[in-house]
Amino acid sequence: MVGPARDPGRLRLLRERVRDDGAIEAMNEAAFGPDRQHKTVYRLREDVKPIRELCFVAIDQKGRMVASIRNWPIEINEKWPAILLGPLAIAPELRGLGYGKALMWHSMAQSRMQGHSRIILVGDPEYYNQFGFRRDLALHIQLPGWVEERRFLALELVAGAMIGVHGMIGKWSPKKRASTSTRRRRN
Ligand SMILES: CC(C)(COP(=O)(O)OP(=O)(O)OC[C@H]1O[C@@H](n2cnc3c(N)ncnc32)[C@H](O)[C@@H]1OP(=O)(O)O)[C@@H](O)C(=O)NCCC(=O)NCCS
Repeated sequence: MVGPARDPGRLRLLRERVRDDGAIEAMNEAAFGPDRQHKTVYRLREDVKPIRELCFVAIDQKGRMVASIRNWPIEINEKWPAILLGPLAIAPELRGLGYGKALMWHSMAQSRMQGHSRIILVGDPEYYNQFGFRRDLALHIQLPGWVEERRFLALELVAGAMIGVHGMIGKWSPKKRASTSTRRRRN
């Protein structure tokens, strides 16, 4: 039940700042546990920086970071640039109030505005289907390690962006960034 005690009032949605890092790590550790770093998706994040323009935090009126979403660059089959969405976490006392949805829609809209056309994630389909993430769109792509198949989902920010896309997802390589950023705008 949602009562006034849980209403934080106005939150500010900001681009993640360097000083948010510690609080985000602590919140993700609390939400996903210390073993999260062993998950396959973390392999794709090792030594790769998140996309700064697509990492957001919600700050409450006392200046506390209460929600975070991050997005990472990846490449499918060394051909198709994509975004790896996550982690997404909301402070436990504020869950179920719509902030997760707000962050998701904001992040997805910004991703599209910045020229991206497809997003991959590993998460509960019962939550992510509402944003358009689908299992069938990820049937022809693979992650470099074990994943619970039903939770491996994709989304087209541009209609048809997953058509013909197949193969192994790899880490974003910084040296490719310059050449692929041009391609990303076209794809
Ligand atoms: C999952 C999470 C991000 C959702 O954010 P939130 O602000 O609590 O959720 P919202 O208020 O936007 O949405 C609430 C709705 O989503 C549903 N929901 C929340 N988590 C869900 C889940 N894992 N599976 C299915 N439905 C879920 C709620 O039941 C609720 O449904 P309703 O709108 O029909 O009442 C948040 O609960 C959280 O941080 N959880 C811990 C970390 C986590 O699991 N992150 C997702 C990784 S896969």
